[in-house]
Amino acid sequence: MELPKGLAGVVVDQTKVSSTKNAVLTYAGYPIKELKDAPFEEVVFLLWHTRLPSADELSEFRKRLVSEMVLPEKTVQLITRITYEPQHPMSILRTTVSLLGTTNDVKRDDPPRILAKLLTAIAAIIRIRDGQPIKHAQKGWGVVENFIYLFSGQRPTPERVAMFNTVMVLHADHEFNASTFTARVVASTQADYYSCLTAAVCALKGPLHGGANERVFKMLETIRDTGQDPVQYVKDQMASGHKIMGFGHRIYKNGDPRAVILREVARKIAHETDNDSYFVLQEQIKDYMFKATHLHPNVDYYTALIYHCFDLDKQTFTMMFAACRTAGWLAHIVEQQAEGCLIRPSSEYVGETNRHYPSR
Ligand SMILES: CC(C)(COP(=O)(O)OP(=O)(O)OC[C@H]1O[C@@H](n2cnc3c(N)ncnc32)[C@H](O)[C@@H]1OP(=O)(O)O)[C@@H](O)C(=O)NCCC(=O)NCCS
Repeated sequence: MELPKGLAGVVVDQTKVSSTKNAVLTYAGYPIKELKDAPFEEVVFLLWHTRLPSADELSEFRKRLVSEMVLPEKTVQLITRITYEPQHPMSILRTTVSLLGTTNDVKRDDPPRILAKLLTAIAAIIRIRDGQPIKHAQKGWGVVENFIYLFSGQRPTPERVAMFNTVMVLHADHEFNASTFTARVVASTQADYYSCLTAAVCALKGPLHGGANERVFKMLETIRDTGQDPVQYVKDQMASGHKIMGFGHRIYKNGDPRAVILREVARKIAHETDNDSYFVLQEQIKDYMFKATHLHPNVDYYTALIYHCFDLDKQTFTMMFAACRTAGWLAHIVEQQAEGCLIRPSSEYVGETNRHYPSR
């Protein structure tokens, strides 16, 4: 049997959470271009219940999430102990998710509580890394507003909340991507939430998945700081066999629909924060890449610039991806656990056969 490399195009199971059929990303049937300005909490509810909440349900759900945006003191102490240079924030997050599974009152855990704790933990890692005091979530504010406040220490304007909300909504789920599939494999063994989420974070960390956004910005910085011609830089990279981060996609061969929306957000915020030069660089690279390879930018390409404009250090970008994707991971974990079927595929053995252990 001819197997596609990396299971490309292979349908391994069913889901009601999201779909990329015909290269259109939908959450529970709603296209993301219609959801891009919906409140993040509403989209999370949709992913978890496969229906939109009523106004009352949304308000209760938001209150619940915000009320859980606080960490046990023991967790903060432990995060502080493991947060030091030169540890990469994604390594700290990997340990933190696992830590939450031991310091949280796991008997009370459910998806809203876990999502809220994870967002708070990610913001805490950023604050501790920056040597800044931990901030506390404010009742009456939404989840996105609080999240920005927790990591930046400043109350964001409604316009900035709307921009970050769009980023969070567009990253919230993406059917059976590598990290979600990893979470589902672990969930299929009926392991607990934290085990599934720790595994998902490990898969997201790699440069071919969530780790790309950090590398996109590193490329932009290198080009700008060394004054190189962006087209020549990209040509040289490809000539030496390197992939250009933020381009290409396993599913979207004619363009990632999320990148189209995020390009506009990046253009706007780059202008507002005096970062136009980075956006101009991105446009030059995008145009050349299309001309030379027909590859389009993916979700990570413009998000990198948006995170930079939120004053985030590039090493924390992939944690931001994790913050948004936790919503989707939890939806899939619950769906997989309910299915009650162990994921255990088979392999085609291509090694030596008919060998015999020598008698000694
Ligand atoms: C995302 C990605 C893993 C998808 O991979 P895929 O569907 O398996 O496609 P492949 O890696 O097989 O690529 C097909 C061809 O395009 C080339 N290609 C794909 N992405 C490329 C990129 N970013 N830069 C340069 N060339 C690229 C490959 O080298 C390959 O060329 P070949 O046929 O001559 O060998 C891949 O595009 C990639 O590594 N992109 C960069 C990392 C990134 O941005 N990841 C975030 C994804 S959201």
